[in-house]
Amino acid sequence: MNFNLTRIRTEFPLLKREVHGYPIVYLDSAASAQKPQVVIEAESKFYQNEYAAVHRGIHTLSSEATAQMETIREQVAKFLNAADAKEIVFVKGTTEAINLVANSWGGSQLHPGDNIIITEMEHHSNIVPWQMLAQRISVELRFIPLTRFGTLDMTKLSSLIDCRTRLLAVTHISNVLGTKNPIKEIITQAKLFGVVTLIDGAQGIIHDIIDVQDLGCDFYVFSGHKIYGPSGIGILYGRQSILELMPPWEGGGSMIATVSLSQGTTYAPIPWIFEAGSPNIGSIIGLGAALKWITNVGMDVIINRERELLEYAIDKLSSVPDIIIYSPPKPFGVIAFNLSSHHTFDVGTFLDQYGIAIRTGHHCAMPLMQYYSVSGMCRASFAIYNSEEEVDRLVSSLIRINSLLK
Ligand SMILES: Cc1ncc(COP(=O)(O)O)c(C=O)c1O
Repeated sequence: MNFNLTRIRTEFPLLKREVHGYPIVYLDSAASAQKPQVVIEAESKFYQNEYAAVHRGIHTLSSEATAQMETIREQVAKFLNAADAKEIVFVKGTTEAINLVANSWGGSQLHPGDNIIITEMEHHSNIVPWQMLAQRISVELRFIPLTRFGTLDMTKLSSLIDCRTRLLAVTHISNVLGTKNPIKEIITQAKLFGVVTLIDGAQGIIHDIIDVQDLGCDFYVFSGHKIYGPSGIGILYGRQSILELMPPWEGGGSMIATVSLSQGTTYAPIPWIFEAGSPNIGSIIGLGAALKWITNVGMDVIINRERELLEYAIDKLSSVPDIIIYSPPKPFGVIAFNLSSHHTFDVGTFLDQYGIAIRTGHHCAMPLMQYYSVSGMCRASFAIYNSEEEVDRLVSSLIRINSLLK
């Protein structure tokens, strides 16, 4: 495998930090990944030498910045294998992308009595916008249940879909359990009934190779900050034919063709119709650099390395006395656990004292916590820069904490 962990780690300046006197062990990349130097530099270079508002001026800086932004749109389209760059909408992140679809597509295409299917393992971002829509226009929400292995009970899907099902919105990979859902199978079933599909790719984007045309989904959404890019930028991929059906959801500059006080407004074509206001151009530049960095490392290299590390981690964690692991045997990116009945905040706070950053609490997935009858879980999440030694430090610290808390 063409992979050099030492070299990769040197590319992430934050990994040189110490926390409470220990070298940081950063196991919270599923919440937000650290950034390689090239991403930090690309943004900084833009602000130092190239900064200007986009789409607004004919001067050199503005046209260069606009060209950069549109080139990155093409780069994202290529990364997802979208048919056209028009299918790529810049948004703040996964949450905004789903809200955009709920408001624009949902608000214009759904009728009282229609239903939407999601799953019991969704992040609040893929629950709350649909609940808000359901309240507004009296549509029903249905849920694909879980099996005791933390996977979707696919045997239930066909009985949930009926002639009033309009949308199936499902996470690609669970942010809590690391379960990778059979999205291609789900999309194929949905299409048989003419049901629109949205894939929440917030976690999937960095643990799988995405080909939206091969998947056949209508929407695929993700956030830049989880794929080594900046915060405040995300992507809504929407199939051209469906985006063209959708009305704008926010009005303002940049999304119009003409505005008249007497005649009203006509709108720009997709994707700009969905990009009202001044875009987060600095973060778009950073996202472009992150995708380039990932492509240079190789998605296959990232996937293989993570698989190796996750296998090691699940094996080692299983040996910790009193640990309860919620993730399926082969999780992607994250491992969810509890240490006996110790409160997740206690475990997380102790780990922090040893310089180890994990996530604790409900992980924005309260229904999933309710399913497991727990108030929270600990989650260690792994990225390309993590090492076996870091897993060992997590494991030995958990063993120590378990005996201290007894
Ligand atoms: C599966 C999943 N969906 C949605 C989100 C929301 O992403 P953002 O906060 O970047 O909009 C997250 C973030 O943790 C996530 O893991």
